[in-house]
Amino acid sequence: METIRLSSSLTEALNQQMTNEAANAQIYLAYASWATDKGYDGIANFLFRHANEERNHMMKILEYILKRGAKVKVTEIPAPGPDPVNVNDCFEKIFKSEVDNTKNIYSIVDMSMEERDWATWNFMQWFVKEQTEEETLALDLLSKIKVAGGAKANDDALYTLDRDLEKTPDNAKLAQDVSVENP
Ligand code: FEO
Repeated sequence: METIRLSSSLTEALNQQMTNEAANAQIYLAYASWATDKGYDGIANFLFRHANEERNHMMKILEYILKRGAKVKVTEIPAPGPDPVNVNDCFEKIFKSEVDNTKNIYSIVDMSMEERDWATWNFMQWFVKEQTEEETLALDLLSKIKVAGGAKANDDALYTLDRDLEKTPDNAKLAQDVSVENP
């Protein structure tokens, strides 16, 4: 009796997405280490926390593949690339990597729809919402650094931004969660 409930193409795509999430965790770890080295402890703290979130995303996909009776393939993780040149560059790179990740998530949603695999489509909706949050969060970071002076932000502005990020929540509030009672 056939017990595998995932097609081979979706199994491959989900395994690839596991690696993508692991690569995202490495990016956040690398940037957090860079920020610590530069003395931006608040930014580093935020990025270290986020690295854990990316690892959780990887684990979520791993568990789903196993629960559908398919095979997980753990592979090498691509290196995160060069360190940012400044805080502005750091936040720009993070935003770009989140947008790239959203594209990858959308392509799995497309595949699950084409295959009429509604279980996977449903599973992926969590990631669609999560990516909206992550992009919003990354955009918020970019707005903050822009206000602080962008690539030319001075030490005082960076100090304030760094303190501010220490307290920034890990999740952004989405427009779809907003109501009159809960603005
Ligand atoms: Fe798991 Fe930031 O995407």
